[in-house]
Amino acid sequence: MDFFLVITTLTVLAASILFDWWYFLRLRSKRLPPGPSPWPIVGALPHLMRKKGGVTKLSQSLQAKYGKILTVWVGKKPMIFISDPELTYDALVKQGAYFSNRVKNSTIGLTTSGWRTLSTSEGPWTIALRKNIMTHMLGPARLKAFKPLRDRAYEGIVNDVKSVAAASENGVAQVNCRSVAYGRVARFVLVLTFGVELEDDLVQEIVHCLGERFRLAFKFSLGDYISFWKIFEVKHRQTLKHLQTRHIQLFAPLMQRLRGLQGDEGVIGGNYCETLFQLEKEFPEKINDSVITSLCAEFLNAALHTTTLAIDSTMALLCEHPEVNEKLYREIEAVVGKRAVDESDLPQLPYLSAVVREALRVRTTAITTLPHATSELRKLGGYEIPTDAVVVFVLESFHLDPTHWSDPSVFKPERFLENDLDVLGSKNFSFLPFSAGRRVCPGIQLAMFEISVVVARLVQNFEWEKVPNVKNTEIGTVFRARPRSVELLHAELSFG
Ligand code: HEM
Repeated sequence: MDFFLVITTLTVLAASILFDWWYFLRLRSKRLPPGPSPWPIVGALPHLMRKKGGVTKLSQSLQAKYGKILTVWVGKKPMIFISDPELTYDALVKQGAYFSNRVKNSTIGLTTSGWRTLSTSEGPWTIALRKNIMTHMLGPARLKAFKPLRDRAYEGIVNDVKSVAAASENGVAQVNCRSVAYGRVARFVLVLTFGVELEDDLVQEIVHCLGERFRLAFKFSLGDYISFWKIFEVKHRQTLKHLQTRHIQLFAPLMQRLRGLQGDEGVIGGNYCETLFQLEKEFPEKINDSVITSLCAEFLNAALHTTTLAIDSTMALLCEHPEVNEKLYREIEAVVGKRAVDESDLPQLPYLSAVVREALRVRTTAITTLPHATSELRKLGGYEIPTDAVVVFVLESFHLDPTHWSDPSVFKPERFLENDLDVLGSKNFSFLPFSAGRRVCPGIQLAMFEISVVVARLVQNFEWEKVPNVKNTEIGTVFRARPRSVELLHAELSFG
């Protein structure tokens, strides 16, 4: 009896391995972009285990062998990586109507109230959410209305560094620029989200939870692709559930307060929460407090992490290239003088714009787009892209491609004075830091204002150098900042 059971089990196992092998290797793989041969059941798992840095790094290392569109099977799911600007244009623009869906894996579902946030949903709900954020939060009129809040954040960042310098024995600040920017930008986006200034303790706790959410929510989770792997990820999933509950606990009183205070003088009108309460009237079946919590967390994290990372990378590059730093300082001095750089100065500061774009290229902030999916089977580059495929555009690879850029890994802002490529990919897609098409980042203008003005003001006010032999933290680089002039220091400190 036992012997019969063993034979039956082994036969079933062998048959399913054989079926898997035949189905993936022979049938499906033939029409998909090329890639490493998948193993039955686990796909490219053995390749993944050999390569440090996850599936994106694996795809980049496979490019030389398989080309700029390739498939990596993770379990039974094909992940298609595209590193070619022309194919990306085809997918995101020409076939944009079909390539704009999102991937619905169970991990992402946990923090997005069942894929109902802006970055995870699709169809009419996404259109309504995008329209809301573009018109009511990030469009030109709203950006203008919220400018005084941004000005306060810019001033706060400079003053924070100055205070550290003033308190130090030698008058030189040793600071982690990203944490300083993070703290001030967090306060600004929290006001934008909830319309009120929050107490310091609450800001600290929200920022901590958002950081955890960002770190864990979009972490590659093998269990989403290979079901049995979920048993190794129970703790990860529980932590995500707890985080969502904690966010609801933190945000619920703010939402309640806001519902009671609408129209109150103490509240900055047109905040993100208020706009979502309006949507609640139109889409009562789609939205509830958990969805609003997820949407607010998504907005806060999208606005916080990328922008502060870009500021950190730009400052690090300026420290590594003192000649660029000096040229930038001279431009600011000539155009703006001692007055603090303002957003309205940006069109007159072409070198600053070139520095920021070159930093976004050489240290690409968003290495890939968020995962896309197709709404129907589509052809791309002569291959088939099925609806169950995860489609990822590897923006970093465009930016470092020697066929599009000479000395691609060298930081040379001058190239952006010559080529005049914008961040929208209007001329070509070899530079595309914010993606493109229907899912293009809606925060481009806000991000460009923040990165440009913060970098300009930091350069205007301090001489910067990286601190040697100091381990940089996960959050950012440790810099030494020497205030440029005592008069400027006193003038601004008395202001703040
Ligand atoms: C340096 C700064 C930033 C960079 C490099 C960046 C980049 C990106 C990229 C590459 C995507 C994915 C697009 C795709 O999947 O095709 C994205 C999506 C998104 N970004 Fe940004 N972003 C930045 C700042 C911001 C800011 C300040 C906001 C404002 C709140 C924001 C809000 C969003 C949202 C909501 C999405 C999801 C859009 C959707 O799926 O429809 N981002 N961003």
